[in-house]
Amino acid sequence: MKIYLIGFMGAGKSTVGHLLGKALNATFIDLDQLIEQKCNKKISEIFKDDGEMTFRKIEADYLKTSNGEIIATGGGVLYFEETGQWIQQEGMVIYLQAPFEELYARIQGDHTRPVAARPYEELKDLYHKRDQAYRNISHIQVSVSRRSPEDTVTDILSSLKVNGGK
Ligand code: S3P
Repeated sequence: MKIYLIGFMGAGKSTVGHLLGKALNATFIDLDQLIEQKCNKKISEIFKDDGEMTFRKIEADYLKTSNGEIIATGGGVLYFEETGQWIQQEGMVIYLQAPFEELYARIQGDHTRPVAARPYEELKDLYHKRDQAYRNISHIQVSVSRRSPEDTVTDILSSLKVNGGK
């Protein structure tokens, strides 16, 4: 069973994915990191030099060819509707959910995330649109609001037991 972690920027997908990989003794892949390695460029440089659409296509391609068991995706992974349908069929999709204000406080001024540089209102709007999409696509939703990554892993593990895996 593959596990895809989805959620807005700052939800802790990478940290949680890494810990979850250890807990399940499963291979972990951070999609953003994989893209940076393969392209030999920072994500911010890809956005700047090649544009967002190029990044989104690369992101969707590497998602489909990555062979980790646990995959931390980027916040915009559902950019193409068919990607959502694809991950939903491919494995267990877990949405790490938190209120916008909490996530905004974490990502504000983070220059490694080009999307985080957008104006507050625009980001809030994006959050609400994506929140709906993440909910629609995910099999499991876990609140990461004021939870440590370790607590979140515990929550995921008990949720997986209830859901019986896939
Ligand atoms: C993005 C989120 C980033 C990264 C890229 C675009 C987005 O990943 O993929 O900067 O559109 O939300 P994180 O969610 O890990 O920050």
